[in-house]
Formats: sequence, C-alpha cells, structure tokens
Amino acid sequence: MTTDAILIELENVTRVYRMGDVHVHALRGVSLTVRQGEYVAIMGASGSGKSTLMNVIGLLDRPTSGRYRIRGTEVSQFSRGKLADLRNREFGFVFQQFNLLPRISARRQVELPLLYAGITGRRSREMAEAALARVGLAERSHHRPDELSGGEQQRVAIARALVNHPSVLLADEPTGALDSRTGAEILDLIDDLHAKGLTVIMVTHDPRVAQRAQRLIVLRDGQIISDEENGRKAVQWILGDAYEDH
Ligand SMILES: Nc1ncnc2c1ncn2[C@@H]1O[C@H](COP(=O)(O)OP(=O)(O)OP(=O)(O)O)[C@@H](O)[C@H]1O
Ligand SMILES: [Mg+2]
Repeated sequence: MTTDAILIELENVTRVYRMGDVHVHALRGVSLTVRQGEYVAIMGASGSGKSTLMNVIGLLDRPTSGRYRIRGTEVSQFSRGKLADLRNREFGFVFQQFNLLPRISARRQVELPLLYAGITGRRSREMAEAALARVGLAERSHHRPDELSGGEQQRVAIARALVNHPSVLLADEPTGALDSRTGAEILDLIDDLHAKGLTVIMVTHDPRVAQRAQRLIVLRDGQIISDEENGRKAVQWILGDAYEDH
C-alpha cells in the first residue's frame, strides 16, 4: 500500500561523532524521502552509517547539520520532550538483539511503551494482548523471555514496537540473531504488517532480505550511493560482486 503522503524527509543530513580530537563522519549529507506505506531496505558495509541513519530517522539521535521533516514539520530543533512524544507516536524499533527484560512476561514487555504513554490497567493489558495476537503470540503472553524461542522473543519485540500503533517500523538487522528458517518467519510477519499498511524501514546484510522490499538504499561511507524502486537490480549488482569494485 503506497499512498502519496510524504512521511519522512531528510535533507543533506550529517552526523559527526566527536571522540576527543577525532571526528567520525558517520553520515555525510544524506537526502531521503520516504512515503507512507513504503517498504525500504538499507544495505551497506559495516560502519557505513546504517544504524546512525536509523537512529536519526527514529529520533533517537539528532543530525549534526541538515534538515529533517516528519509529515512536513521540521523536527531538528524540537526539545527532548517533544522528540520523545513524537518518537513514541510515530516509530516502533526492532533490533538484532531483542532487548527484552529478563524476568517479566511477554505481556508486560509489550506494556512498557504504554506505561510511558500514560496508558495503564485494563486498557494497557488489552492493547498488549492485541499486539501479541498480531504477531501470532496470543498463547504466549505469560511466558518470560527464557521460556520463549529466539523467533518468539523477536515477535515479542515486534509486538512491543507496534503496541502504540506507530506509522513506521524501524528494524535494524531484525533477523541477524536468528537461524534462516526463523528469520524467514519474522520476514513473513513483517511483509504481512507492511501489507496491512505499516511503513517499514529495515537494515539488513542479506540481499535476499532486501529483495522483499520495494526499494533498496545502499550506503557507503555515510553517503547514499544507490536508491532505487524495486531493488532487484542493485541486489543483483551486489551479489555479482560489482559492489566492491564500484
Ligand atoms: N556513538 C558513537 N560514537 C562514535 N562513533 C560512532 C558511534 N556510533 C557509531 N560510530 C561510528 O560511526 C560510523 C557509522 O556507524 P554505524 O553504527 O552507523 O554503522 P553501521 O552501518 O550500522 O555498521 P554495522 O553494519 O556494523 O552495524 C562508524 O565508523 C562507527 O564507528
Ligand atoms: Mg549497525
């Protein structure tokens, strides 16, 4: 489902990390537009700036320079509190490490973002159970992480990301810690969520993963070197080893 609404607009965004005297240029002038309902894959070598870009898009980090608009509103000067509210409303995050708390049930993990949003009690419980049902885990809501498989743990993390009904799912290597069959199940789930209207931006090292997306962006040394609809051409290009020669 792709509509015309522009959700995300980055214009010439840089991110410089200062480590004492050393400046690391993690992003060097990235411009990018993402429309509602898109499914975007981001690839690139280790250190090319993929996670930095995801953190900037998801408002976990600020650009050093450049502009960032969400639904047409410039957000780079927003206060911390305003950014946190916007982040909570618009973005759900999933990482390679599931980042679940060790001792609490799946339902309570999923309720955590609701607590932050001031939703408690029965409403919170029902929303968490609905989110777990969306990822096929209705029967596992009382299990703790050590009572779940890796794939189930990632599903809990996805339910947690979705419980606030964000418009965008930001997934940074969501299958990186899973075997290929479990990884494929998680990708099927993400395909399904996308088909129901969720905008998805996913970092991956796996060209077969990128092939599921409608669009593939390739980063190199903090810059976009390729951005095309239907990334099959770029995937072929990467699989064909032309990537390193570029
Ligand atoms: N907090 C930080 N402080 C200093 N430098 C950082 C920080 N985070 C990232 N960097 C540097 O910025 C560059 C981009 O890092 P980033 O994590 O975005 O890469 P990546 O493409 O996600 O890599 P990977 O595939 O290994 O996850 C790297 O050179 C990295 O060392
Ligand atoms: Mg990374």
